[in-house]
Amino acid sequence: MSYRKTRQPFLVPLALVWLCVCAPMSAQSASNSGQAASGAVDAAGHQWWQNAVFYEIYPRSFADSNNDGIGDLPGITSKLDYLRQLGVDAIWITPCFPSPQVDFGYDVSDYENIDPTYGTLADFARMQSTARSKDIRIILDFVMNHTSDQHPWFIDSRSSRTSQHRDWYIWRDGRGPGQPPNNWESGFGGSAWQFDPRTSQYYYHFFYPQQPDLNWRNPAVKDAMFGVTRWWYERGVAGFRLDAVGALFEDPNLHDNPVLPGKNAFGDPNMKNKYNENLPEVHGVLQGLRQVADKYNAVLIGETWTGTVEQLREFYGPHGNELQMPMNFFLMGINKLSPPEIRKGIAEAEAVGGWPVYVLNNHDRPRSYDRYGDGVHNDAIAKVMAGLYLTLRGTPIMYYGEEIGMQNNDPKSRAEVKDPIGKTGWPKEKGRDGERTPMQWDDSPNAGFTKGTPWLPIPASYKTHNVASEQKDPNSILVFYERLLALRHTNGALLDGDYVPLNENDPHVISYLRRYKDDAVLVAINMSAAPQKVSFSLAAKGISSPTSKTLLTTMNDKPGEAKLSGMTLAPFSVYIGEVAAGQSVAK
Ligand code: GLC
Ligand code: CA
Repeated sequence: MSYRKTRQPFLVPLALVWLCVCAPMSAQSASNSGQAASGAVDAAGHQWWQNAVFYEIYPRSFADSNNDGIGDLPGITSKLDYLRQLGVDAIWITPCFPSPQVDFGYDVSDYENIDPTYGTLADFARMQSTARSKDIRIILDFVMNHTSDQHPWFIDSRSSRTSQHRDWYIWRDGRGPGQPPNNWESGFGGSAWQFDPRTSQYYYHFFYPQQPDLNWRNPAVKDAMFGVTRWWYERGVAGFRLDAVGALFEDPNLHDNPVLPGKNAFGDPNMKNKYNENLPEVHGVLQGLRQVADKYNAVLIGETWTGTVEQLREFYGPHGNELQMPMNFFLMGINKLSPPEIRKGIAEAEAVGGWPVYVLNNHDRPRSYDRYGDGVHNDAIAKVMAGLYLTLRGTPIMYYGEEIGMQNNDPKSRAEVKDPIGKTGWPKEKGRDGERTPMQWDDSPNAGFTKGTPWLPIPASYKTHNVASEQKDPNSILVFYERLLALRHTNGALLDGDYVPLNENDPHVISYLRRYKDDAVLVAINMSAAPQKVSFSLAAKGISSPTSKTLLTTMNDKPGEAKLSGMTLAPFSVYIGEVAAGQSVAK
């Protein structure tokens, strides 16, 4: 799963990971689901979520309205104009439900409320209606695999072997005194089994012991959890990001997992999660959730860490009846500016056959600014990566702060660490605090995030990398993002066009066409520190024009035309131009 910072190759091998078509709406559901109401498609037959730009918000760190050092829902509401101007159509808010915050919200103790740290249900309703008035949809995070150990279901479950909710979780006898039922490991370190003296059995937890896994084989669990999604759809939520979907089912016979050579950051033996990850039963649950979602024209996004193209394909469902948006994490695994590797990743994503969903950053991985940056040209490289993933076919999910070039700010010592895995795994695993620091709004103290003490330290680079300063600088990362997103929203080829790779042997420049009917856009990105001269012969693609009309570039060129033969690309630069407007393009 994504929570580990271990660098993974493209399509992450399962063993190492974990540690890593909508139905028309009824009048009733349309009125209740508010902004999720439109089931309209565009000329290419695309749904709203295919044309949308999604933006992940870590609510603790976005904007703090009451100066307690922690972000909150009124804070998010106050920044919706900023998001609209940036070109964001939907925000995914990581869990903001009542929680003991052991895993900062991914341990939910009540699915149908808001944690007081973040506000109230009334604050949610205000955020939702303000967002709707600005055409921004709200996506919530559905933590399906586990609850908090403080959830009333688990409190009842652990109270006796015969309690009403006993079978809502996974309880087993040990193999012998002091011996867990099998060798399964928690992705967060140690055994995945926790002994509970009260009833002398072990319960199973894929993540922290405070996150007991729900028993999805129990129909009552399914009903209750499906009901949760309905409850939020009725309150105007436009969809869910489904957390840790691969962890939903376990082998009921509890076979031991194969042990692999070496140890992980927690000092545990490496293991292939053969019997407790990506079991086929998950697809039945996803099909059921989709039926509920379809009644509200809602979208389901999956945290789908998969090992192969086939596995990712399966998450769309045999008839497109599971997740509309299973996330493709290949860019999280390639941490260098390598056109050959990136080209291969895109080709594999395209080969899946569904609508791709690209992710460059999230709250579990070091920020791309540092992953790709060379320490000298990081700002130019941030634009290079934006120019890449925001012009690919599919839907992008941004992560707050990436648009201003926020850097990772890892804790300097174990004592500073807030994320528990950073304490257990120190120093190999420093935890995820570094990528979760407060949003940098301006150059005032605490980057304008709070007037209190921010829950995580803000890196000194906020003085230059912040929204207010970058809005004033036409060459900033932020202004480039704004212009790129504006182009994406208005250019038919970028929205709907096929991906056609070009110059596939070029080691420095990645280039491709996005082609839709008579329109084509050329994207050329120099991923090297030296200028590169490139030529495109597009006649074979049915494009005869010798020039391209510049739409957007990071080079300080005047708007105009660029020659397709002998185009010079500055170091770490992005060129986007129109090559076939009005011409007939052979498919
Ligand atoms: C997902 C979340 C991660 C969380 C884990 C357990 O991987 O992205 O942040 O810790 O699930 O819920
Ligand atoms: Ca607050």
